[in-house]
Amino acid sequence: MNAASVSPFASRRFGVIGLGRMAQALLFPLIESGLVPLAAVRAAVGSEVSAERLRAQHPGLAVQLDGAEAWAAPVLLLAVKPQLLDAVAAAAPPAAAEAGAEPPLLLSVLAGVALARLQQLFPGHRIVRAVPNTPCLVRAGLTALAWGEGVTPEQKAWVRQLFAQVGEVLELPEAQLDGFLALTSSGPAFVALVAEAMADGAVAAGLPRAMAHHLAHRTLAGTAALLHEQELHPGQLKDMVTSPAGTTIAGIRQLERSGLRSALIEAVLAAAERSRELA
Ligand SMILES: NC(=O)c1ccc[n+]([C@@H]2O[C@H](COP(=O)([O-])OP(=O)(O)OC[C@H]3O[C@@H](n4cnc5c(N)ncnc54)[C@H](OP(=O)(O)O)[C@@H]3O)[C@@H](O)[C@H]2O)c1
Repeated sequence: MNAASVSPFASRRFGVIGLGRMAQALLFPLIESGLVPLAAVRAAVGSEVSAERLRAQHPGLAVQLDGAEAWAAPVLLLAVKPQLLDAVAAAAPPAAAEAGAEPPLLLSVLAGVALARLQQLFPGHRIVRAVPNTPCLVRAGLTALAWGEGVTPEQKAWVRQLFAQVGEVLELPEAQLDGFLALTSSGPAFVALVAEAMADGAVAAGLPRAMAHHLAHRTLAGTAALLHEQELHPGQLKDMVTSPAGTTIAGIRQLERSGLRSALIEAVLAAAERSRELA
């Protein structure tokens, strides 16, 4: 199916306030898929240096320091750092819906900023909180959505369609977003640490460094694919590769001695608690 021919965004402007790493990870796949035409995008950044770099990298992309055009769009992605939120909200013009149209839709990806606060800062917008993760960069992302008041079924369908371009989309009660973020947004860093440490172990066992990294990544990716595609419980997979008095159980014994499970449980919990604290 050609996304451009059915895109609800084809005839609408698409605003982006803060076209940094996260917004780029979301926006460029949308443009490539044809869902959002490049010409429809009105982006704002915080410095002329970034604006010039983005214009050079993406000819035809409208990037401004003054976010007036982005704010005028009926659909808007808000992706500035949370500490800039108050200043950005203070500088934003009041929301103006097109005649006969729904109030504009604001999609916030700001970590830990609650729907209630966003609604207070942007009273003329309908608000959606989205929690995407970095694997969106390779379209293997996960995004949780929590809906603010008054978002129409049609607007919900647009938003699901947008985030589906970069991975799987879940709709969650807002209270579950801290736990979701801890696992899916902080999780890639935890897994990267595991990948690095496993590669170090392989180097210690005599493999060349580049090969050790390659093999560690492929082992993680292959294991994740196996768990997912065969819908295995992790314990089942562990038992599948653990033979009596074999190599794997020797390694697992060491991991249990070192408290790997407890370390990971506490890491996810600490990230969730920090997310609550920041909110
Ligand atoms: N990275 C992640 O994995 C991730 C995941 C989920 C959610 N998030 C959320 O995404 C948001 C952005 O994170 P990021 O990592 O993408 O940060 P980032 O790369 O620093 O991007 C922030 C962007 O905001 C722009 N900006 C600064 N001041 C502005 C202003 N007054 N008006 C408009 N734009 C302005 C910056 O432009 P300049 O560079 O010119 O200053 C930059 O383009 C954060 O709120 C974070 O919580 C991130």
